[in-house]
Amino acid sequence: MKVCIAYDSKYGNGKKCVEHLRYIMTKKGHDVNIFNILETSPESLPQANLYIFSSPTHIGSPPRKMKKFLKNLNIKTKGAKYSLITTCMDTETKALDKMTALIQPSGLVKAANGVKIKVDRYKGPLEAGYEKRLQIFADDVLKSQ
Ligand SMILES: Cc1cc2nc3c(=O)[nH]c(=O)nc-3n(C[C@H](O)[C@H](O)[C@H](O)COP(=O)(O)O)c2cc1C
Repeated sequence: MKVCIAYDSKYGNGKKCVEHLRYIMTKKGHDVNIFNILETSPESLPQANLYIFSSPTHIGSPPRKMKKFLKNLNIKTKGAKYSLITTCMDTETKALDKMTALIQPSGLVKAANGVKIKVDRYKGPLEAGYEKRLQIFADDVLKSQ
């Protein structure tokens, strides 16, 4: 399966998460590409069966650049699915709901519930056991294909 991951990450914690996710999915034989949203545009994401968007929570929301990116998605693959990751200090964050609402018009279909990965402080580190949480997330997302 072709998987496209687009992420934003101020301090590198989210980047570490998506790189680990790529490791998990590649090991299972999937073709995974990662894009930093600052270095690509929403219109130029490649065709894929599954899209994963990963964002930090900033003031209870994804940062403005991620909101803009999700609002301008132009996905051409019919029936493509998506799922979401946010890194946050407070797991009560509604960032995933806000990202879901922005993705709605793109026609992407939700693959599985998103995952919230906790960081200890603004700059991290990631919570202990984040690899296991990403493993469970990957299993859920891939099961729903
Ligand atoms: C300006 C700013 C605002 C933040 N606001 C929140 C917040 O409202 N809730 C929360 O849980 N974390 C908040 N954080 C912590 C971020 O979630 C954390 O820095 C981020 O998840 C780390 O991931 P990254 O290294 O990929 O950027 C904030 C961080 C910054 C820099």
